[in-house]
Amino acid sequence: MTREDIIKELGKHTDTVLSFPNRGPWGDSRYRGNCSGWIPAYFINKYNAASVAEVFAGSGTTYDVCMDMGVSYTGLDLNPNPPRPGIISMDIMDDSIELPDGFYSADMVFLHPPYPSINDIRYANSMWKDTDGTRMSRDIQEMPWEEGMRCVNHAVLRAYNAMPTGAYEVCLVGEIRSKGQYRSMMQNLAIPGILHQTFIKLQHNTVSGSRTYSGRSDYALTGHEMIAVIKKPSGYELAYVMPKKYSMDIRDCTMATWKDVVMSIARNTKGEITTEVLYNAIEGHKKTQTNANWKAKIRQTLQYLEKAGLINRTSLGRYALVAA
Ligand SMILES: C[S@@+](CC[C@H](N)C(=O)[O-])C[C@H]1O[C@@H](n2cnc3c(N)ncnc32)[C@H](O)[C@@H]1O
Repeated sequence: MTREDIIKELGKHTDTVLSFPNRGPWGDSRYRGNCSGWIPAYFINKYNAASVAEVFAGSGTTYDVCMDMGVSYTGLDLNPNPPRPGIISMDIMDDSIELPDGFYSADMVFLHPPYPSINDIRYANSMWKDTDGTRMSRDIQEMPWEEGMRCVNHAVLRAYNAMPTGAYEVCLVGEIRSKGQYRSMMQNLAIPGILHQTFIKLQHNTVSGSRTYSGRSDYALTGHEMIAVIKKPSGYELAYVMPKKYSMDIRDCTMATWKDVVMSIARNTKGEITTEVLYNAIEGHKKTQTNANWKAKIRQTLQYLEKAGLINRTSLGRYALVAA
């Protein structure tokens, strides 16, 4: 396809919802997890990029787009035999190897990482052969979710460190429902520099899109992926948001109010709710350290909850939850 034809087609797309029902003639549609070439093409055109670098180059979709658009290209992938001459074989997690020079002069870096822990997609020994037997364990696709996201974020930061001031880093990531759990890569993505803009990429002809769930479900079928565009504002600054998971008991959370804590205990009490039950349930937890008279505070909260109609006092020091 010529650059003019590509730009003409892209002119139809004016907002942040990107919908390309055809993936275009680039890369390999049989390569699992490949993306439409219209996505890198859209951003090359939008940011007027004359040089592109890519982590996770896969089947060569972005390489082919760059060739048609007359844009210089450097890419890498874990595949020991990459399918295009502009793609080198490299593990993005191996910091002893420098990124190729093209990352240091790129106007735009594109990343379409594996979606860690999706069961039915495989790269090592499936899309390509693990010829030296070391790559399966380094394939981010094969990693559990948390470790995989740590590697994806490492890749985002590595590419960011290399790219010049003013360059754009475009990350295409999935929203995954796998093994009954919902995982948002976007929500767990590190954002070095400025979050320039986010886009929604509508999905077409996907395996998940053809699934149907029987009966009523409180999940909708996932019909989109997300794109985060990060811009590098200056030469030295590294300002990033690295998501961190916090998990604690509400009784140890000092920002939870007494109303929150007492209601949580009341809701989780199997038998009768008495002041003793409440004292025992909270004793030793951090919330008690915020008030030396915490027992009096619980009694005061119970009075308040009774007035508010959230609990009933059944007899002295005994309560029942009012059904919601
Ligand atoms: C979602 S695919 C990219 C597909 C590509 N956009 C296309 O259209 O063909 C992710 C790629 O990441 C590669 N990969 C997995 N782990 C890697 C690692 N540690 N370092 C570099 N590449 C890796 C896989 O081999 C796979 O090709």
